[in-house]
Amino acid sequence: MRMVDMISKKRDGHALTSEEIKFIIDGYTKGEIPDYQMSSLAMAIYFQDMTDEERAALTMAMVESGDQIDLSDIEGVKVDKHSTGGVGDTTTLVLAPLVAALDIPVAKMSGRGLGHTGGTIDKLEAVEGFHVEISEAEFIKLVNEAKIAVIGQTGNLTPADKKIYALRDVTGTVNSIPLIASSIMSKKIAAGADAIVLDVKTGNGAFMQTVEDAEALAHAMVKIGNQVGRQTMAIISDMNQPLGLGIGNALELKEAIDTLKGEGPEDLTELVLTLGAQMVVLAKKAETLEEARVKLQEVIDNGAAIEKFKTFLSNQGGDASVVDDPSKLPTAQYTFELPAKTSGVVSEMVANEIGIASMMLGAGRQTKEDDIDLAVGLVLHKKIGDKVEEGESLLTIHANQEDVEAVKQKLYDNITISDSAETPKLIYKVITE
Ligand code: URA
Ligand code: CA
Repeated sequence: MRMVDMISKKRDGHALTSEEIKFIIDGYTKGEIPDYQMSSLAMAIYFQDMTDEERAALTMAMVESGDQIDLSDIEGVKVDKHSTGGVGDTTTLVLAPLVAALDIPVAKMSGRGLGHTGGTIDKLEAVEGFHVEISEAEFIKLVNEAKIAVIGQTGNLTPADKKIYALRDVTGTVNSIPLIASSIMSKKIAAGADAIVLDVKTGNGAFMQTVEDAEALAHAMVKIGNQVGRQTMAIISDMNQPLGLGIGNALELKEAIDTLKGEGPEDLTELVLTLGAQMVVLAKKAETLEEARVKLQEVIDNGAAIEKFKTFLSNQGGDASVVDDPSKLPTAQYTFELPAKTSGVVSEMVANEIGIASMMLGAGRQTKEDDIDLAVGLVLHKKIGDKVEEGESLLTIHANQEDVEAVKQKLYDNITISDSAETPKLIYKVITE
């Protein structure tokens, strides 16, 4: 086989065979196929697309390029959840203990990543003593006993994806549905998921800005998962404004605690119940989404969900008393209000830019080496569709710096108050095939 022939084949709009795709991915991972040929192929895929069979073959070739986590010693259906990323997205922190409270095994591998705030692990580390540096054996034991554990990234997962993603980043080929879908799915499958629930975000704070694009990506991922024997479902949810009220690591942890107690923001609660219901059905703990939702509400109402969260924290060295006394979480030195300049209705809160404002406070990382400040961030008091009076606070800034003028300006530039506005839809679609 010659790489040049496969590039030409794809350029001319033909489908590659599974053997050809495997040859390409193996060769590129080993360094036998050079970057210039791989980038040429990525561009051909960008224009010519891939068939469902090609997408599944590409995904599995990337899965097989490195280590795969073996979760077979954990009883039950391991359901993983993935979000394509948003601002103030606290859903994993709530969902994990919530579904574990229904005896669904949650075996989560998480990274730190870059972004407006830290990742799930950073947020959890706002709890004194909590750590994810546990052995794989300990991880599996914890999941079997308590149904929930989180481990830091271990092993050499999907090296092909890492290499191809870095190449796409500098060759104008990131925005390709077959390449994005196979990239995301390969990572979930290598991490050992039996079933996968996807939260595909749409809006100005999301990767896929229109509902149509988000839907195309969701369909592509659901098809790949189902084709390779991992039952997969997706929802399309809104990211035109931040999710919930807290944006920042400790602030989001606090929000997760509130939500597990049934006292969380309305949108976060609704999203968690929608995603959670899908996880419960995939794990075969309920026949229908309606039945699943009732069960989830039950463990919130009877306290089992928040108890599960405490067990999880203390199992991994964390001080679980923060659940009853959130003042033990890292707290910023200063708070500042952002008063509305006029009366009216909030009509726009540009999610992405508000995320950048929290990053300016130190809540997120720009490069892998950056330290993050777990205490800082924003707490919104108003969301799109809410009435506001002139002078009333739109949000509170939690900072460890005295000068927040630039942050305030960024926020004012990205929050609009008009005469009227409607609360945006939260969930656009549920996709099961
Ligand atoms: N996220 C990924 O993991 N891969 C992509 O290709 C795009 C976004
Ligand atoms: Ca939030």
